[in-house]
Amino acid sequence: MLLRPNMPSYDEARAAFSWAAARAELDGLPGGGLNIAHEALDRHADGPRAEHVALRWLGRDGDRRELTYAQLRDFAARFAGVLGGLGVQRGDRVFALCPRIPELYAAGLGTLRHGAVFCPLFSAFGPEPVRQRLARGGGSVLVTTRALHDRKVAPVADQLPDLRHVLLVDEDLPGRLAAAAPGPMAAMADDDPALLHFTSGTTGAPKGAVHAHRAVVAHRATARMVLDLHDDDVYWCTADPGWVTGTSYGMIAPLACGVTMVVDEAELDADRWYATLEREAVSVWYTAPTAIRMLMRAGEEPLQGRDLSALRLAFSVGEPLAADAVRWGERMLGRPFHDTWWQTETGAIMVANVPAEPPRAGSMGRPVPGVEAAVARRSADGEVVRRPDGGPELIEEPGVDGELVLRAGWPSMFTGYLGDDERYRRSFAGGWYLSGDLVRRDAEGFLWFVGRGDDVIKTAGHLVGPFEIESALVEHPAVAEAAAIGIPDPVAGEVVHAKVVLARGHEESPALLRELRGFARTRLGPAIAPRRIDVVDDIPYTKSGKKLRRLLRARELGLPEGDLSTLETAR
Ligand code: WT7
Repeated sequence: MLLRPNMPSYDEARAAFSWAAARAELDGLPGGGLNIAHEALDRHADGPRAEHVALRWLGRDGDRRELTYAQLRDFAARFAGVLGGLGVQRGDRVFALCPRIPELYAAGLGTLRHGAVFCPLFSAFGPEPVRQRLARGGGSVLVTTRALHDRKVAPVADQLPDLRHVLLVDEDLPGRLAAAAPGPMAAMADDDPALLHFTSGTTGAPKGAVHAHRAVVAHRATARMVLDLHDDDVYWCTADPGWVTGTSYGMIAPLACGVTMVVDEAELDADRWYATLEREAVSVWYTAPTAIRMLMRAGEEPLQGRDLSALRLAFSVGEPLAADAVRWGERMLGRPFHDTWWQTETGAIMVANVPAEPPRAGSMGRPVPGVEAAVARRSADGEVVRRPDGGPELIEEPGVDGELVLRAGWPSMFTGYLGDDERYRRSFAGGWYLSGDLVRRDAEGFLWFVGRGDDVIKTAGHLVGPFEIESALVEHPAVAEAAAIGIPDPVAGEVVHAKVVLARGHEESPALLRELRGFARTRLGPAIAPRRIDVVDDIPYTKSGKKLRRLLRARELGLPEGDLSTLETAR
C-alpha cells in the first residue's frame, strides 16, 4: 500500500511551517486550556477512534494485552482519581519506578490528567540514583512494584522526607483504582509543568529538566513530519520512559497521533525483537544505535525466514549512527535507519533525516521544520564565543566544527532545571540554546556529529554524569578520589571506567577491586556502574580545579594528550 507521506517535501514544509499552526492542530480542552493527557487519550477516546488499540503490551513472559483508547483513558482517569483521593495537588511531583507495564503508562497519563508533574525513573537504577532523583525532585508520590520498592527505595526511604505515598502496582494500587471515581481533566496553561526528566552533567547532581504541557505540540508535529505516523500504523519505540525518548516518543507522541503503540516489557534480544517486528506487523520503528549494533552482531541467522515487509520506516536516536548501520538496515531489514538528533532538554526531535528523502548515511540530518539550528564558534577553553550583543558567534562556512545551537522558542524546549535557575540561564546565549554537542555542517545544510563538548559519558544510549559515579565511589572508605570516564565500546558506544586514588592505609589488591566494583554496582545499579575500576597515583586537575578527565581518557586509550597548558602539576 502506498501512503502519501505527511511531509512530501522538506523544503516546502520548512517554508510553510509555523508552530502556531501546529498548536492549532491540537484539540484543546472544551473550556479552554491544554492537557497532554487530553491530546493523547480523550481526544480519541471521545471520538471515532475510541475502540482503536492504543497500547499493545507484550509481557516479559509472553503475555499480550491490548488496551483501546477508551480503556487506557479510563485506566488513566481512575489513576487521576486515586491521586485526587490522596490530596495530590497540581504541580506535585509523581514519580514512577516501574518496568514497562501498562500501569506505568496509565500512571503517567493519569498524573498529567490530574495536573501533577510526571517523573519516570529507569527501573535499572540502583538505590543511590533513585534517592538522588526523588530527593531533588521532591517526589511526594511514587508508583512502583513491591520488588523494586524493597530493593531500591526501602534502603533509602529515611532520606526521602517529601515522599508521602508509595503505590504498589502489585499490591494496593489495583484496589485503589477499582474504588476510585475517574478524576477530572485538569485545564492547564500551555506553560504549566507536565514532565520532569533527569539528565546528567559533568559536575553536581543530575539536572531535572522540566517540560510544559505545550510540549505536546512538538511531540505531535514531529511524530507526523519525521516519524510519518498515519492512522493505521503500528508503532514501536524501544526506549524506556525513564529516558526522555520513552516518554516523548514511547508514550505521548504516538498516542497524540492516535496510532497503536507496541510496548515490550523485555530487554533487547535479537530473536524476540525480530519476532515482535514480524508478529505485530510493526510499520514504524524507533530505536537506538546500541540496539542496532547488537542486532548487527547477532548476524543473519535470527533473521532467517522472517517477514518484515510491514516495516515502512526505521529511526534511530541517542548516539552517533554510523553509515554502515544505516546501510545494514537497508540490506537486512529492507529499510535504512533514519538518524534523528535531540536531547532531554529539547524534548522532541530537532534534527532528522526525514522520510521525504533517502537518509544521508552518517549524518544526523537537517533541522526539522520550525527549528532553526546553527553552528557556534568555540574558544580553546570550550566556551561558546559571544558577540558583543551576547549572542553566539555563528560559523557560516560549511565544514567547520563548532557547537550546535538552536534558536530558543520551540514548544518542547525545557522550561527550567529544577531548582537551578542559574544553570538554566547559562544554557542560553542571546536567544540561542547551547546544546553542548560539537557538530559540523555540510554545504547542503546536513549536520554531522563530531563529539560531545563535555565529559558526560554515553553508555548504551544513556547519559551518565561522571560526578554521580565519582560521588558514589568516594563513599567507600578505601577511596580517596575518583574520576569516571567513557571508553569506546563496539556495542555500548562507551562504557564507564573509573580511576581511583586509594585512601591512606589501603593497598591495591584483586579483592579490593572486586569489592569496589560490587560496591558501585549495588549503589548505582548495573546500567551506570563502572565496568572497570583501576587504581592510579593521582587524578590530574586543571589549574582552576577541574578534573582533567579527558587526559585520563587519552592516557588509557594511548591517544595524544592534547593541550595540557591548564594542567596543574604540583599538587
Ligand atoms: C545527547 C542527549 C533525546 C534522545 C535520547 C538522548 C547524544 C542524541 C544523537 C545522534 C549523535 C546523539 C548527544 C546529545 N545524541 N542523538 N543522532 N547522534 N549523538 O537524550 O540522554 O539527553 O542525550 O545524546 O550527545 O547531546 P539525552
